[in-house]
Amino acid sequence: DTVLAELLASRIKDVPDYPKPGVLFKDIAPLLADAEAFGALTRALADRAAALGATKVVGLEARGFVLAAPAAVAAGLGFVPIRKKGKLPGEVFARSYDLEYGSATLEVQCDAFAPGERVLVVDDVLATGGTLGASLDLVREAGALLAGVVVLMELSFLPGRERLLPHLAGAPLEALVTV
Ligand code: PRP
Ligand code: MG
Repeated sequence: DTVLAELLASRIKDVPDYPKPGVLFKDIAPLLADAEAFGALTRALADRAAALGATKVVGLEARGFVLAAPAAVAAGLGFVPIRKKGKLPGEVFARSYDLEYGSATLEVQCDAFAPGERVLVVDDVLATGGTLGASLDLVREAGALLAGVVVLMELSFLPGRERLLPHLAGAPLEALVTV
């Protein structure tokens, strides 16, 4: 939907040299602050969840939470967080992924999903694909079926989509805005 894509893209602000020189940061704060754009984004995500027959919406800490939680409510579904290491109580599954320097670990609670649940995974940005790759593996490890993935923005000059392919295992990946 090009009307939606243009509305969303117009509310994402490019911030050069943040958080370090040479990096172009995509700031979604203006989009979140705009009721029309945030509402349209929320409805698009909720529609996608319904179309995919999702039974849960999963958001990735931190920026993914802000997009996934209202979409879950709008779709009449529950929300499940995937969090950075050490934040979730009880038994968790954990997956590490490489960053530019070092690595990071994401976790999901072992009892997050009932058997047979279908999950829509939502995040703000697909860059290198490390965050989503680890998250999709966690969803499966926790026993859910991956119904699909939606990101607000895909950075197509990075090989994120290619890197995600083996983790998707045939599930659809949709980007609302491609830059
Ligand atoms: C950012 C962004 C995505 C991820 C994309 O999260 O919100 O989750 O990076 O990058 P990748 O495709 O290369 O993994 P970040 O970990 O910076 O933190 P935040 O969401 O907690 O702000
Ligand atoms: Mg993030």
